[in-house]
Amino acid sequence: MTAKLLDGKALAAQLQEELTERVSDFAMNNGVTPTLAAVLVGENPASEVYVRNKRAACERVGIASQLHRLPRDASEELLLSLVARLNRDEAVHGILVQLPLPGAIDAARVLDGVHPSKDVDCFHPENVGRLSQGRPTFLPCTPHGVQHLLFRSGIPVAGKRVVVVGRSDIVGKPLAMLWMQKDSTCGPTAANATVTVCHSQSENLAEICRQADVLVAAIGKARFIKADMIRPGAVVVDVGMNRTAEGLCGDVDFENVRMVASAITPVPGGVGPLTVTMLLYNTLKAAQMLSLA
Ligand code: GUN
Repeated sequence: MTAKLLDGKALAAQLQEELTERVSDFAMNNGVTPTLAAVLVGENPASEVYVRNKRAACERVGIASQLHRLPRDASEELLLSLVARLNRDEAVHGILVQLPLPGAIDAARVLDGVHPSKDVDCFHPENVGRLSQGRPTFLPCTPHGVQHLLFRSGIPVAGKRVVVVGRSDIVGKPLAMLWMQKDSTCGPTAANATVTVCHSQSENLAEICRQADVLVAAIGKARFIKADMIRPGAVVVDVGMNRTAEGLCGDVDFENVRMVASAITPVPGGVGPLTVTMLLYNTLKAAQMLSLA
């Protein structure tokens, strides 16, 4: 068997086309252009690329974007005061503080400083709490992107055994939260999966992975998930983005796993473009909420 490729790039293009119309309608009806403020501290090359991609996507759909740069040695207080200023700025609807931040800065303190109504990454404890209770304001971008990709590919998760490898606050934990919800308050297919979260300390990892109907790899280790960890016919979602000597690769040993799985996301061109697209959704949502306030 050779797995069907889940083409995130094509789906993101389609969703962004749909979004362009919604952004345009909103701007016409309210006289306001949804606006995202991105904050970049230092010159991390990967972060530079991510922020450039996010801003380019904003431009494609008619969302305005701002870039606020601080030097690598900027103080935490300076960053907090920038975030506070963006919170107060009525022309800014969404705030994105690109991670990772330099080690000297307490990232949690900074992310806690973003007003929950502008927290388009869904990193603020209030928004994470709302998600865990099944009444989210925003959905976290990567989990929401994965959800969309499977939904639009006709792959249901309800009742299925989902194994998430990785317990990060950005992907593993919120994806598990999304998919274990009891009903559909978090989107049409976000509910009723049987979710197992594994991590670097899990015993019998391969055995647990082999039980998955849907396996999500989000552990940040190049080609970590091997073909013998996949049940024949399973769906494999690769959230990894690792820079190796041979170039960009995911957390899945793609060439071998694709011979066992029924469907698989490529890297690049799988989950990444959808993460960006969901950030656009959230920015429009933040602008809509403000216009109703
Ligand atoms: N760094 C890696 N992924 C992300 C993300 O989704 N949002 C932000 N702000 N930083 C990141």
